[in-house]
Amino acid sequence: MVLEFDPAFIQAPEHRPKPAVAEAGSIPLIDLSPLHLLEQHGGPLVAELEVLVAQVEAACRDWGFFQVINHGVPPAVVERAWAASRGFFALPPEERRRVRRDEVNPLGYYEAENTKNVRDWKEVFDFVVHEPAVIPSPGDAGGGVDRLIELRNQWPQFPHGFREALVEYAQATEELAFKLLELISLTLSLPPKRLHVFFKDQTSFIRLNHYPPCSSPHLALGVGRHKDAGALTILAQDDVGGLDVRRRSDGEWVRVKPIPNSFIINVGDIAQVWSNDKYESAEHRVSVNSERERFSIPFFFNPAHYVMVKPLADLVDEKNPAKYEEYNWGEFFKTRKNSNFKKLDVENIQIYHFKKAK
Ligand code: OGA
Ligand code: NI
Repeated sequence: MVLEFDPAFIQAPEHRPKPAVAEAGSIPLIDLSPLHLLEQHGGPLVAELEVLVAQVEAACRDWGFFQVINHGVPPAVVERAWAASRGFFALPPEERRRVRRDEVNPLGYYEAENTKNVRDWKEVFDFVVHEPAVIPSPGDAGGGVDRLIELRNQWPQFPHGFREALVEYAQATEELAFKLLELISLTLSLPPKRLHVFFKDQTSFIRLNHYPPCSSPHLALGVGRHKDAGALTILAQDDVGGLDVRRRSDGEWVRVKPIPNSFIINVGDIAQVWSNDKYESAEHRVSVNSERERFSIPFFFNPAHYVMVKPLADLVDEKNPAKYEEYNWGEFFKTRKNSNFKKLDVENIQIYHFKKAK
């Protein structure tokens, strides 16, 4: 019997992965050891911190992506998060579905997400880093005054210790997120804590991704090409590999090589707008393979729903006018989520829709 490959997963020919994706000349690798110097930072930057800031600046500008080592998140904490994720996705489907997301609660387990209207070859588990996370109600059409809803996590009963492991992981990676935010502020010649105010009622969430082996890896993608909508993303990947980043210099897809005990950092759309296009939120995707399942854990560092995103006033003047109209984060997030959840006939929301005409 010939099993048909479900057409919902098939990418348009121009978006399918090529059999060999280049791994050479991959994204920058940055050693974060000097990060502890941030705490003592008051006056001028000490030399090591200055070097680090310059590395982050170049990486954000040239790639929008980099890998970090010596990031301060204890390996044991990351290990427990991997174990929790593997344990959860190894449960029988009916157990996983007990915490399935629905029209009311967008958190929990989900296996039918679309990116740009094509189904992703993956299943996920989402939880917010701070509860309750307040966002505009996903059911509302927008345009008018939105109702707000309070999101709460749905924790599965199994595997044992799942919640504890992931709460611990969330705390450790959130700390790293704030440090990276300080570094990015410094690269924009701003005071290190300049951007913290936007994260007071943050809507950050963590996603456990599971990409099962795929019988037609040349037709489908684990996650279709996209840009992350938030401020920045901290991604842990296992040793299988499959994350492809579109290189800014020539538009080629480049595979990100797994490095033990590292995280992959990328600037999201909000950082692109804040920086008034100094930085670019890079397009990326996930290729799958027919042999090995793959796991990854992104932390999406997102501001409060009421934040109006626009080029930072500190960075614009008459000579460098703002390149974007301001937009509301909660509204943007809601619109993007709705189109990933359901297959819609319209293109999903992108920041270039807010770009000012020249
Ligand atoms: C994402 C994503 C990359 C990966 O979930 O937004 O880009 O390697 N994931 O799983
Ligand atoms: Ni992504």
